[in-house]
Amino acid sequence: MRINPFYESTWKSVPPINSEVRSRKQSALLPLAPINASPVPHLTSLYHFSRPGYYGKRSYPGNCGGNIIRDLLLYFQPRNVFDPMTGSGTCADVCRELEIPCLSKDIREGFDASNPASFESLNSKRFDFIWAHPPYWRQKLYTMMPGDMSRTDSLAEFLESYGRFIKNCAALLTDGGKFAILMGDYNDRAEGFVSLTYYTKRLAFEAGLRQCCTDIIRFSHGASSSRKVYRSSFIPGLHDVCMVFEKAGN
Ligand SMILES: C[S@@+](CC[C@H](N)C(=O)[O-])C[C@H]1O[C@@H](n2cnc3c(N)ncnc32)[C@H](O)[C@@H]1O
Repeated sequence: MRINPFYESTWKSVPPINSEVRSRKQSALLPLAPINASPVPHLTSLYHFSRPGYYGKRSYPGNCGGNIIRDLLLYFQPRNVFDPMTGSGTCADVCRELEIPCLSKDIREGFDASNPASFESLNSKRFDFIWAHPPYWRQKLYTMMPGDMSRTDSLAEFLESYGRFIKNCAALLTDGGKFAILMGDYNDRAEGFVSLTYYTKRLAFEAGLRQCCTDIIRFSHGASSSRKVYRSSFIPGLHDVCMVFEKAGN
């Protein structure tokens, strides 16, 4: 293969990768957001705040900072919230601060959000806003409970369970209610790169939802992987994606 001389010289100027010479700079110039009537002007498609806020427990595996939840709630102003995969209770803490009633559940206490039977206990309650931060398939394992989505053996099994979960939640939305899902793509040892953000949209659309605003790319500040050194070569993923859906036809 003939190499374009420009790239060849660029490659030659790239220093060898080792911990001494690797650049670890942390600044990027973000585009200016247009001024608009949003009550949360800093909430844009690039969510880059490095402080997680004092919500939930940072030590909980898969914990997400609460500020993005807070900003979404301030933007959409729901009357009540449902968090079916609460983990360390980040969303519940945000709701407490904002004085919004919130129902929190998790498989750890026996609520399997992928099982329609679990939802019978909610007595046909409806929600203006559902916040969900599901497992990124088996990237992190959560519990040994049957039904835990992080314990599914194959991608097909995970997607089956994830699809049922999205359908169950979609049925709980009030008219105009919003369903926000935070999800990340994932590089699986056996399956390779799995675009879970693509599957999220596909399953949400199949459940009769439509996306109601831009993807929100959340910069993954504080991810444990960012402090690791790997021998292999790959393009690091430094974000996950928050997608907000509503019932199609709203
Ligand atoms: C990414 S963590 C959520 C972390 C949370 N956002 C926080 O900040 O602490 C995913 C959660 O989903 C729960 N989970 C997995 N499968 C579930 C299921 N079928 N039903 C309900 N919860 C489930 C796990 O126990 C775990 O707490």
